Amino acid sequence: MSLYQNLLLLTAVSLFLSVASACSDGQCRLLDGCSSDGDCEAGLYCFACSQGFSGSRCVRSTIADQFKLLNNSLPFNKYAFLTTHNAYAIDGYPLHTPVPRVTFTNQEDSITDQLNNGARGLMLDTYDFDGDVWMCHSFGGHCHDYTAFGPAIDYLKEIQAFLSANPEEIVTLILEDYVGPNGLTKVFTDAGLMKYWFPVSSMPKNGEDWPLVSDMVAKNQRLLVFTSIQSKEASEGIAYQWNYMVENQYGDGGMQAGSCSNRGESSALDDTSKSLVLVNYFHSVPSKSATCKDNSGDLINMLHTCYGAAGNRWANFVAVDYYKRSEGGGSFQAVDTLNGKLLCGCDDIHACVVSQNYITNNVMISS
Ligand SMILES: *[C@@H]1O[C@H](CO)[C@@H](O)[C@H](O)[C@H]1NC(C)=O
Repeated sequence: MSLYQNLLLLTAVSLFLSVASACSDGQCRLLDGCSSDGDCEAGLYCFACSQGFSGSRCVRSTIADQFKLLNNSLPFNKYAFLTTHNAYAIDGYPLHTPVPRVTFTNQEDSITDQLNNGARGLMLDTYDFDGDVWMCHSFGGHCHDYTAFGPAIDYLKEIQAFLSANPEEIVTLILEDYVGPNGLTKVFTDAGLMKYWFPVSSMPKNGEDWPLVSDMVAKNQRLLVFTSIQSKEASEGIAYQWNYMVENQYGDGGMQAGSCSNRGESSALDDTSKSLVLVNYFHSVPSKSATCKDNSGDLINMLHTCYGAAGNRWANFVAVDYYKRSEGGGSFQAVDTLNGKLLCGCDDIHACVVSQNYITNNVMISS
């Protein structure tokens, strides 16, 4: 055979092998080609990110739980949490008004799925509407029939069910709040959530560490609620977000590579009298096709930029749209990275497990 014929044969053989060895039935690993979710290993699903790769590949769909992987014995502010922006604005959410919805969505699965996949921060927009508290996008500062998603109680009951079924987990709600006096208190009470309420009196006021997660779990104070209305802290015991948290600019203004500045309501990012840091990373108008790239390397780069801007502090909350869209690791990898940095100075929380075991083993061997 000529060299050319040899090459042809080799190519044919390798093509055959690559098809023959294609994975399926839950055997496909990260970034392997796939044709359905069932092809991928646990924790992955089959997704096409045309901005990142051709065809469909297995990408991550769940977080590594930092409390289970390591432990929960550190202050709350030593951990990072995946946060879903406009968590209520879900594709295909049942219509609760007489007119079709004419507004955008920011997420693709239910609050229950978001929580089960590892989201621990939920950003929610709450309005007085139709005699009740609703989740809604605003148009001109008001909720309308065509921008409304649904009554808040339905969403809060899903959160209640999750907290009840997962007694070691902590959920943080960040409310863009347009509700009048006592509306939130009533709906949180009706949803059965007051028994999980973390009291404002236990929140650090001057940059101190938060209570230990293990203590928050032991006391069952596992729901943190922040409002954007300052007066509700005194009147209803709902924490005013920017007394405790710094936050970068949201929307397109927060996506300029190399720059990370505070949103108007927040103190400067390097104001260490606030112990929590939140990084927003989503477009002003969500774009599904752009999001898998946004949520990947670009997001990690921004977390590094904001680390510097926040006085060398890694973010505790990372807020994204369409949280499961990525080129592979996405927002899950970003949070694993933050937990690695926060918990052991590593690039990934899984590396902390190795170093913690190494120390434990060494102690055992040497003692
Ligand atoms: C919990 O994990 C952290 C981070 O790895 C470690 O520093 C700490 O010693 C661990 N605590 C316990 C009680 O294992």
